Amino acid sequence: MTKQNKYTDSIRKHLRCFLCAPFFMVLEASGEFILPYLNADMIDRGVAVGNTAYIVRNGLLMFVTALAMLIFGVLGAYFAVKGSSHLAAEVRAKTFRQIQKFSFANIDEFSTGSLITRITNDITQIQNFAQTLLRGCFRSPVMLVGAVCMSFLLNPRLAAVICVVIPILGLATALLIRTASPRYTQMQKKLDGLNNQINETITNERVIKSFVREENEKEKFSAVNQVLMEKSISALKMMILMQPVSTLAINVTTLAVVWIAGRQIMIGGMEIGTLTAFITYLTQILTALNFLANIFLQGTRAAASNRRISEVLETCPDLTDESAAQKDRQITGGGIEFQNVSFTYSKKKDPVLKDISLKIAPGSFVGLVGSTGSGKTSLISLIPRLYDVSAGAVLVDGTDVRELSLTKLRESVAVVLQKNTLFSGSIAENLRWGNAQADPEELRRACRIAHAEEFIRRFPEGYDTDLEQGGTNLSGGQRQRLCIARALLKHPKILILDDSTSAVDMATDAGIRRALEKELPGMTKIIIAQRIGSVIEADQIIVMNEGRIEDAGTHEELIRRCSTYQEIYYSQRDEENAAV
Ligand code: CTP
Ligand code: MG
Repeated sequence: MTKQNKYTDSIRKHLRCFLCAPFFMVLEASGEFILPYLNADMIDRGVAVGNTAYIVRNGLLMFVTALAMLIFGVLGAYFAVKGSSHLAAEVRAKTFRQIQKFSFANIDEFSTGSLITRITNDITQIQNFAQTLLRGCFRSPVMLVGAVCMSFLLNPRLAAVICVVIPILGLATALLIRTASPRYTQMQKKLDGLNNQINETITNERVIKSFVREENEKEKFSAVNQVLMEKSISALKMMILMQPVSTLAINVTTLAVVWIAGRQIMIGGMEIGTLTAFITYLTQILTALNFLANIFLQGTRAAASNRRISEVLETCPDLTDESAAQKDRQITGGGIEFQNVSFTYSKKKDPVLKDISLKIAPGSFVGLVGSTGSGKTSLISLIPRLYDVSAGAVLVDGTDVRELSLTKLRESVAVVLQKNTLFSGSIAENLRWGNAQADPEELRRACRIAHAEEFIRRFPEGYDTDLEQGGTNLSGGQRQRLCIARALLKHPKILILDDSTSAVDMATDAGIRRALEKELPGMTKIIIAQRIGSVIEADQIIVMNEGRIEDAGTHEELIRRCSTYQEIYYSQRDEENAAV
């Protein structure tokens, strides 16, 4: 996505706002230099000579001008707010859509906090700048040129003073902008840090409380908050400096003008009204300059934010199916093959899977065991393409998963992740994530297989029971069973359960497996388990060790020849015996 078309679409769509805002603001500005002229005229020709009719006529004219200015000003501001708000909303939507396309690896690269800052605060900076720009981009130059011309018209000698101030102010602004620009980027980065911290703390509030780590989290938060504050002060003081510098310029110039004009008035070469008008023009010139400087300063800030938004929009989601050759292919069988697969989470890290080759027949039941950290979750993540392989290929139904449509692939492969999540909403709503059209009978069938039906029935509101965010008002085992039912509702060809019955008692665990075998015999099942008992009847058990497949076979084969398997099996049997 190029830099231009990020904004051009929405500018084109709301062109009326983007044209009307500056137009009305220019109309308003024209009034600003007519008013002092009328005022000077009224003082010199009306007040000074006591011509009441002249005063009334000019006064009325001034009132009408002021009223028109008010209307134009309001209209200009309205269109500026409308245009910039639309612009921000559309860029925000675009950024959100892009983030939705991101893979886990893309999100890790930016960090969640940074993505939140970019989609909120950074876009707000752009919105503020667009609004200021729409209000001032023509108004300020028109005011500046107009007021300079008018002052030359009134008194060319006095006007020369202005020519000295303008370059000085311009130079000061340029210097301020140069210092401010890198500081803004720094400030946004610190805001990322703060959002990351908030995100982690709030998401994990339960764990924090259970470990009584509130104080610690408070300290961590104070630290990032403090850094952000320091960076903000350092960046914003540039903005604050702008105000006193221009006030000083106004005052010094006014003084110089009064000094020069005073002498002219004394010798009768100038009228009081002219001086009043001149000072008003002078103030207008400096206000316009101040506004222009502000546009530049805000522009610097917006430029930093713009770069950060572009980074998101220009990042290629590293996991797409845009170039997939067999997009229309449906998955019908459910056979899986790993061909010399290696995988690493990031280029900087060592591979967590090394040269894995493996075949899983359609409809078979495969168990996956191995010590913690041996790469079981990583292995199964490659099947629905939660990550892409670093080398080799994963085939489903004989086709490389990268050649298939992502949607079709993920519809056919249901994974109950080790770290599963439910969402706020009723149990039925959560189950329908698996299949939005599922009727109550289908929900019940899936829950029967997952052995969730009996506990749901015990809830007074049954399937309409509301879950809290993350399903925290359920027990661990209940949550796991609902997640299995949700996965079953997808009618997958391949079902992967990653330690999904760890919190369920052994009898229920066995019951779920039997129901799966009986009710869904054609579905390929991969079950990762800590307990050998959970996979003992599998057609094939894969033993993983340090990112490699150590052995694969049936329980009888492995117990004879695989030492790691024997170790796990006998240690668990001894534990069970000890428990009895
Ligand atoms: N890993 C990583 N980055 C991740 C996830 C995992 O670098 N986002 C690493 C871990 O440090 C680990 C290895 O990948 O050394 C394998 O992790 P995993 O596949 O999750 O291991 P499992 O066998 O699933 O371990 P467990 O039984 O504990 O679930
Ligand atoms: Mg795991």
